[in-house]
Amino acid sequence: MEESKHQDGVESHPPRPIRWGIVGAGHIAGRFAEGLSFVQNVKLVGVWARRGVQAEEFARKHGTRAYASFDDLLDGVDALYIATLPDSHSHYATRAFSAGRAVLCEKPAAVSARELQHLLNAAKASNVLFMEAMKPPFYPLFLKLTEHLAEDPIGDIGFVRAGCSIADVPLDHPSFRLERGGGALLNIGIYEAFLAVRFLGSAINVQTLGKLGQTGVDSFASLNILHENGIAQIFCGLDLDGKGDAFIAGTKGSVTIHENWWNPSRATVRYLGGRAVELHEPFQGGGLNYETAHFCEVMRSGGIESPVVTHAMSMKMIAIMDAARAELGLIYPFEARLAGRPTH
Ligand SMILES: NC(=O)c1ccc[n+]([C@@H]2O[C@H](COP(=O)([O-])OP(=O)(O)OC[C@H]3O[C@@H](n4cnc5c(N)ncnc54)[C@H](OP(=O)(O)O)[C@@H]3O)[C@@H](O)[C@H]2O)c1
Repeated sequence: MEESKHQDGVESHPPRPIRWGIVGAGHIAGRFAEGLSFVQNVKLVGVWARRGVQAEEFARKHGTRAYASFDDLLDGVDALYIATLPDSHSHYATRAFSAGRAVLCEKPAAVSARELQHLLNAAKASNVLFMEAMKPPFYPLFLKLTEHLAEDPIGDIGFVRAGCSIADVPLDHPSFRLERGGGALLNIGIYEAFLAVRFLGSAINVQTLGKLGQTGVDSFASLNILHENGIAQIFCGLDLDGKGDAFIAGTKGSVTIHENWWNPSRATVRYLGGRAVELHEPFQGGGLNYETAHFCEVMRSGGIESPVVTHAMSMKMIAIMDAARAELGLIYPFEARLAGRPTH
């Protein structure tokens, strides 16, 4: 995997492509596969899904191979992208670690802080790279904004407001499935938790109002969070039409990341006195390609943790979700079984 360098008279060879495999063959797996063609020096070598027909169809569409078993897939890859539903992320990740494979895992990486800690311990014990697929910080707009704020700051940042609620999620969508780790918090709110943690640090106190929908998962939640460095207001939903922009306030100015803030391409930075700066950085390839390129860079450098979406960052995000779920009384059936408690 090492990159050879151009030296006088010595021919350079490109690094060997990182061989990717995907577990799960649904919506986001398809977007990941499309995004891979925008990443240098990678190759999609295969997919495994528990329904062979789905895997075959996916493989045909994306020009790759459908593997007959998860272990066979692991044998042929360097890195695994986990695109199953939240209740099974940890299971596939830990099996991949045992095989020594690097893992990029869809959000939420695990359904609770407890499960995530177990997963991170397993990654460290196997000495392999693990990163939660938290895509926003890798978009060109986000990188540009970070650079801009370093050069032209908005003072001490003390407030973050972000939200996303989608009105027309059908009841049979995986996000509504209680037994699969569904719900607005884990499937949408984790992004907003990222933004709050990114700018304000760890959460100290989480106050949550929300409602559980027909299937028992949270269909809407609104959180007021006290962080180390300020206050966040975040919301997430599966049944209301909620504009998905984000607002970040500092002592000398503010930022609006225009909707959809988690797939960002435009931001407005405003300063005291009326000056405003517009940032516009379109993205290519659907957007997942940027986190994948970052992951590959960390992998090539021999790292086992992203310096951007760190393991600690993932723990801080899921801790907010745990606290919010506790307030709403949302316990997943698999958790209740472990604790011997009734489910909703
Ligand atoms: N990064 C983003 O922009 C983004 C966007 C949407 C979703 N997501 C995340 O991506 C993940 C997948 O969402 P999706 O919308 O792609 O769902 P989806 O379309 O329902 O696809 C899920 C895939 O995982 C498989 N699967 C589910 N549980 C499994 C298990 N226990 N073992 C093996 N395979 C299993 C499904 O197979 P079956 O059909 O056999 O169940 C299906 O192939 C979720 O964690 C979600 O939060 C991320």
